[in-house]
Amino acid sequence: MEIDRRKVITALGGASVVELMNPEARAEALEDYLSQQLDAAMAAKLGVPQNTPTVAELEAQIETRPFRKGVGTLFAVGASTPFGNRVAGEANNVAKLPAMPAKPTLLDFYKLRFNPATHILQSADKALTSGMPEEIVLACLLHDSAHALMKADHGWWAAQLYEPYVSPKVTFAIRYHQALRFFPDPSVNYEYPILYNKIFGKDYVPPEYIKQAHDYARKHKFYMAARMVTVNDLYSFDPNHVVDPAKFTDIIGRHFKQPKEGLGYDNSAVAHMWRTIINPDVGL
Ligand SMILES: [Fe+2]
Ligand SMILES: [Fe+2]
Repeated sequence: MEIDRRKVITALGGASVVELMNPEARAEALEDYLSQQLDAAMAAKLGVPQNTPTVAELEAQIETRPFRKGVGTLFAVGASTPFGNRVAGEANNVAKLPAMPAKPTLLDFYKLRFNPATHILQSADKALTSGMPEEIVLACLLHDSAHALMKADHGWWAAQLYEPYVSPKVTFAIRYHQALRFFPDPSVNYEYPILYNKIFGKDYVPPEYIKQAHDYARKHKFYMAARMVTVNDLYSFDPNHVVDPAKFTDIIGRHFKQPKEGLGYDNSAVAHMWRTIINPDVGL
């Protein structure tokens, strides 16, 4: 990143302010400035809108797109971000998907279908490095993975997708993170994400079923598991933090019941959902 000295000094409050800072404070202020610049550059790359729209303005955008914002990322180019804006340099058409092994494992999906799974991998890594229990790390790893299939109500879709293979605590954490993320919990320093004003609108009020799900989850014995997914959820973008899914091999091995026939072929109640992710190109 190129640094314009004058711009930096202005951003820090002017030359006289910078002069009064000791070297440590100066270094810290510069670091803050650079990270803000990086966030802004990344935000522009991801198509984050400059303005913060209202709910009505977001609704008016519906008829300006050939796809709906809730569509799974595998199904439409231009639907890869929650903003629904076409990102600079994005292809016009969907790409041919790589073949999957005959008996696919969860890690195969990370490599071949959820890729780039940056957000979920970084969330799981954050949980891992902050010493969270393994089931929480797994819940963080899985929490938004259903975006490939469907973004609308993704907590419920993902929980269903994993129900036969993980513990009820992990499923609960995945399902309810979707509702809890809108509600602060000062006991764990969780605040309403500022970014949501851009995604949902600055005057957004969550629908009744989300409020009810939040109230239900609050009183549940697994509340903190779901809450920890929101605490480790990332609402900023760091393209330089690359996490290899193989890092979670042991945790997956201990807490994910991989079917021997492969995901999609075990005749479970959700096998068809996995097959749809394997081959979303079937016409009918
Ligand atoms: Fe989520
Ligand atoms: Fe998330």
